[in-house]
Amino acid sequence: MLKIGVLTGGGDCPGLNSVIRAVVRKGISGGDQFIGIKNGWKGLIENEVLDLNLGAVSGILPKGGTILGTSRTNPYKKEGDLQKLKDNYKKLGLDALIAIGGEDTLGAAYKLIKDGIPNIVGVPKTIDNDISCTDYTFGFDTAINIAMECIDRLHTTAESHHRIIVAEVMGRHAGWIAIESGLAGGADVILIPEVPIDMEDVCNVIKKRHSRGKTFSIVVVAEGAQFKDKKLILQEEKLDAFGHVRLGGIGERLATEIEKMTGYETRVSVLGHIQRGGSPTAFDRVLGTRFGVKAVELVKNKKFGRMAALSGNKIIDVPLEDAVKALKTVDPELYDIARVFFG
Ligand code: F6P
Repeated sequence: MLKIGVLTGGGDCPGLNSVIRAVVRKGISGGDQFIGIKNGWKGLIENEVLDLNLGAVSGILPKGGTILGTSRTNPYKKEGDLQKLKDNYKKLGLDALIAIGGEDTLGAAYKLIKDGIPNIVGVPKTIDNDISCTDYTFGFDTAINIAMECIDRLHTTAESHHRIIVAEVMGRHAGWIAIESGLAGGADVILIPEVPIDMEDVCNVIKKRHSRGKTFSIVVVAEGAQFKDKKLILQEEKLDAFGHVRLGGIGERLATEIEKMTGYETRVSVLGHIQRGGSPTAFDRVLGTRFGVKAVELVKNKKFGRMAALSGNKIIDVPLEDAVKALKTVDPELYDIARVFFG
């Protein structure tokens, strides 16, 4: 029998509870015991844990967020935290740890493997879908469906008022949410971090639409998109514990420029955390469930330093090292497809 810790770190996303439930259901049926670590790495630093038994995971499958809580705590940020984390890991008598997180949580997991906690396996989560070595992360499908519904709604009001509406979506430095929700929602322009924004091009598309009688347009912009014109770049730089810039505000800047350059009335709608909240889609529940079962198998087979991943329709495992090396950004071929529908 193994005693296995489970934590969820970084921004929450729909589907986390599906993983936790699957881990516990799979593991308990094999005789293992589970300790839930509260609020990501913070819980291991502060020794805040709970017993993850069958009762604790009952009824959580449709719930958004994470029953374990989460935080953006970086165990390498504050002096002394790493030692506290290691001491608590030992005190709890854990045989292994399942870390469910995005680039930061999994990046820390990879470092910890080399710094004295070797028995860690990873599960990739994030609405941003920017983790390498997996076709999808869970949370993404829910986020794009929410964003798509918002874009549908923005269409009817934009059309009625003959306005341009800019929808700012999340996704950090990858344009996955923007491109997939924009494609699904029929956006007229989609702007992603991978391709610098050329304001002339954007305004020409909008004007061209007007000239063929379309007196409204929907522009979807990823929060991490950047202007080609350096003068328009946003200056604000708030950093989190992992040194990431807190993004947001590009939509407002873009709307102002569009209105100035085209003369058309423009509004902005920032979708924000709506994209991350609420119940997961069936796709995310199933993917999370499959990842959870895989994570327990990895622990049982002592395949530490590995991450559960989706390849085609198969659940595989990949080295954590490869998964955290670089972000997975939008394939230019997909952007070419999106461009077909601009204008
Ligand atoms: O990584 C998920 C995400 O929602 C990003 O898309 C976004 O930039 C960030 O988290 C927002 O973080 P917070 O919830 O800490 O404001």
